[in-house]
Formats: sequence, structure tokens, C-alpha cells
Amino acid sequence: MSAGDSFYIATPIFYVNDVPHIGHAYTEVAADVLARWHRQRGEDAWLLTGTDEHGQKILRTAVANNTTPQEWADRLVADSWQPLLETIDIANDDFIRTTDERHEKAVSTFLQRLYDDGHIYAGEYEGYYCVGCEEYKQLDDLVTAPDGDYKGQLVCAIHSRPVEILKEKNYFFRMSDFGQKLLDLYESQPDFVQPASVRNEIVQFVKQGLDDLSISRSSFDWGVKVPWDETHVVYVWFDALLNYVSAIGYGVDDEQFAKRWPAVQLVGKDIARFHAVIWPAMLMAAGLPVPRAVFGHGWLLVGGEKMSKSKLTGIAPSQITDTFGSDAFRYYFMSAITFGQDGSFSWEDLSARYQSELANGFGNLASRVIAMVNKYFDGEIPTLGELTASDEAIIATQKRATEQSNALIDTFAINEALASVWQLVDELNGYITEQEPWALSKDPANRERLGTVLATTVNGLGTLAILLSPVLPKATEKLWQAIGGVGELREQRIDDATSWSNTGRVTALESSLFPRIEVDAESGTA
Ligand code: ME8
Ligand code: MG
Repeated sequence: MSAGDSFYIATPIFYVNDVPHIGHAYTEVAADVLARWHRQRGEDAWLLTGTDEHGQKILRTAVANNTTPQEWADRLVADSWQPLLETIDIANDDFIRTTDERHEKAVSTFLQRLYDDGHIYAGEYEGYYCVGCEEYKQLDDLVTAPDGDYKGQLVCAIHSRPVEILKEKNYFFRMSDFGQKLLDLYESQPDFVQPASVRNEIVQFVKQGLDDLSISRSSFDWGVKVPWDETHVVYVWFDALLNYVSAIGYGVDDEQFAKRWPAVQLVGKDIARFHAVIWPAMLMAAGLPVPRAVFGHGWLLVGGEKMSKSKLTGIAPSQITDTFGSDAFRYYFMSAITFGQDGSFSWEDLSARYQSELANGFGNLASRVIAMVNKYFDGEIPTLGELTASDEAIIATQKRATEQSNALIDTFAINEALASVWQLVDELNGYITEQEPWALSKDPANRERLGTVLATTVNGLGTLAILLSPVLPKATEKLWQAIGGVGELREQRIDDATSWSNTGRVTALESSLFPRIEVDAESGTA
């Protein structure tokens, strides 16, 4: 991709039945890192996130809390879901709610179009439904509960709760028409569904043959009305998936739509089927391009199980950021878990990595270098003299870290991209240990050499600030100021992170980038 290209990335829109936990924050951070990264390549990046507010699950939650679904959603969005973005420092460009008028209109327009083109017919649905998943279920999606309140009953394999039996007049989308077209898509565009594990599961699923999909409900009314039959509301997933196009002007702003669409879609693997099967089939029916890619990331696990709201195993993001800060939250989840695989969170691992990688590794490097430039050169950044092999090796690593991380981001290998940047952190630390600037400072004859060593490390710090800014926006901003970086950090080209300019002076860091934290590893509290 070249400068000026559009890069549109979207997270799922989250159910407002409850407050966010670190699983939701994980998706948000990954999408934000990718968006910031592409922005720093000079691309026209656009990050969308938002909330999914219709359907039975939200309706029932509101009723159970003695309120209306609209009031419930308004409250959860204002008190929990919008503040989450601040808590973890997400720079989203838009926030869509499925109760936004712009969204409801787009859903109507889209549905009418499919109806007019013969993709929708009236029928009757008889079968299972899980309100937790908001999904029609087949018998093989269910299991017999081995224990607990529902022991012996048929329950949803995901929610461990009984499903409901529906018998309703519904409208159906002729999804079965699209089975072969989807298989052709997966074949011709092998990176449409990623990673490979998710792709394989999707291909297997579609190969078994697709049923038509019930896309309306008539037994309750919390949703978008079906335009030609107001006794029905649109099925919540059909409604929700359309957020990705309603937010960028589908049906009303053709220019913006053409500029942004198609999106890269980041989702948890739990909802990969909706995004890699139903969603592209809907788009094909409407004659629109399918997403650029659907990436289904892994789950954060607690005790080997998916962390979830419904099982009350959620950890609030602020429990982590209150102690460690948003940068550490972002860094930890992006570096410690292979993106695309499941990962377990633990307070011990978080504290250990905070201490060794952020505080001792990166933070300490920055403090030492800046302190030495202040001490030995009165804050003036020295110039490079003659270069030795060690200096050249640092310059080579700077270049390699830039190229490798930039290439890895295009394959969604966020943790590997970070690992290649961290080679520069480690090598710079090793270089200082080996060059011993404090020893060089003792003899005026080594003045030029001392200058070269410090100039080399300051250069390296600038490259680190640029490459790490998408993941550690706050700490790198402080560092950038301290090393006299010229221009806005977020405007520094990430694909050219080795050449940056400074004002010629450093200023003292007011505090360490990552202050020491005394943590009780068991409870995670400071
Ligand atoms: O499914 N580990 O919303 P939702 C990692 N509204 N990611 C997790 C996670 C975990 N343990 N738990 C949740 C919905 N997530 C629909 C989506 S989109 C048109 C509609 C993240 O509130 C992950 O991104 O149940 C997962 O796919 C999403 O939250 C599900 O959020
Ligand atoms: Mg869910």
C-alpha cells in the first residue's frame, strides 16, 4: 500500500447487556494499533467501533433492570462503553450505535434492496435459538449439560444455558444461493479469512451446505422495523453486521462509501462465522464488495475457559490500567499473546513483563541515555564521529527492525512485529553496557567517541519512539519530547523510522517512562 491509500478497520460492535471486560479491550487495542500503524504510513486510516443494542438479549436485560432498552443502552454506552476507549487510549474515528438513525435508515435501505431483488421470502422458522448468542442453532450446536442448574438438559455449547424453541413467521434470506460463491471466494482469496485455523473451520462449515437464514423476528419489537412489514423487526445480527457500511455512508454518501469500503474486519473467533459467511453473502446479494479480510483472533482465557460476561469471569480493563497505565495494558496484550491464538492472562506475567521489558528494558534505556547527554554534553545532542562496527550494527538493527515490523503488521503478526522492535531495545542496552560511556567520559581524549556512542543511542531512541508509538502512545510522546523530536510524533513515517530530526537538545524526563510498581501479584493491586 502506498501513501494516501485508504485503510478502513472495524472492531465488532459490542452488546450492551453488560460492561466491557479485557476481552473486548483486547480487540479494541489490536484494531487501534493497526489503525495507528497505517496512519503513520501516511495512509488515510479509519477506525470504527461501536455498540450492538437491539435484539432480545438487550431487551430482556433492560426489562430485568426495570427500564426500557433504549434507556439501558444509553446508560451503558455513556457510563461504560465510551469511557472504555479513554481507559485504553483508543483513537477511533467514529463510534456507531445500532440505535443511531443513520444506521437504522441504512438497514432499511439495504433490506429493501435485497427484497426488491428477490433475495428475501416469507416463511416459517421452527427450531432452536440461543438468546445469549442471538443465534439460530442446530442440534449439533447443543450439548447435554453435565452438571449445574441445567444438568441433563440440552444447552448452548457456548453459554451453557438452555436454548429456546421458536416457531415464528419470519422472512428468510436466500443464503443457500451463496454457498458456492463463498467457497470460490475462500479459494481465490486465501487470506480473506485469517488465521488458517479459522479459515479451515469456515471452509468446512460452508462445504456442508448453507441453509437460508431467518432475518426477522415477529414476537417482540426491539429492533429496526422491516420496511415492507412493520409487524417484524430485523434479526439482530443482520442489523448489526450492517454497521460496517452504515457508518461510512452506505446509501447516503456514495463518495465516502467508495473511498472507505471495503474494510479489514477484526473479530474474535467466536463470531468469525457471522463475519466470514453471513456478512459476505449479504454483501454479494447487494452487489457490494466483500471485506478485504476477516481476522478472527483468539480468546483470552480464564482457568482454561473463554473469559465472558455471561460466566462472570470478566476482568475490568481499569483494574489493570489503574495500576499499570494504558500503555502497559496495550503492550502486554499485544506482545505476550500470539495474535490469532488463545492466551491466558495472569497478574504475575503482566507484572514480570512490565518490570523486565517496559521498566528495565525500554524505560531505563531512555532514562540513562537522556541523563548521560545531560551530564556529559549539557543537554546538547552530540554528532556522530567515525563509526565502528558496533555503531554500524546498531544502525543495521534500526533498519531491520523498521522493515521487519512494518512487513509483519501486514500479516497481522502484531506480537512478532513488537518482538522485532524489541531487538533494537535489547541491542541498544547491550551496546551501552559494552561501550561504557561512563568510562569514556573519564578521559577527554575519548570525547569524540563518547559523542558518537551517545548520538547513536539517541538516534536509536528516536526510531523506537516512532515504531512504538502505535502501541505505547503516551510513553513514546514523552520520549519524543525529551529527545527533541521535531514535528508531531504521530506524523513520523513508520516506514522511514530511521531518519528523524531533533532540535539538537534533550530535556530531562520528568519521570520514568514506566515507574516502578510494587505489586501484589496475587491480587494485582498496588
Ligand atoms: O458478539 N477473548 O458482541 P459481544 C478475546 N454484538 N476477545 C473477546 C473475549 C475473550 N474472552 N470476549 C469477548 C457480539 N471478546 C456481537 C458482535 S458485530 C456485527 C456484532 C471480544 O459483546 C471479541 O472481539 O459478545 C468477540 O468477538 C467480541 O468481544 C464479542 O462481543
Ligand atoms: Mg458474546
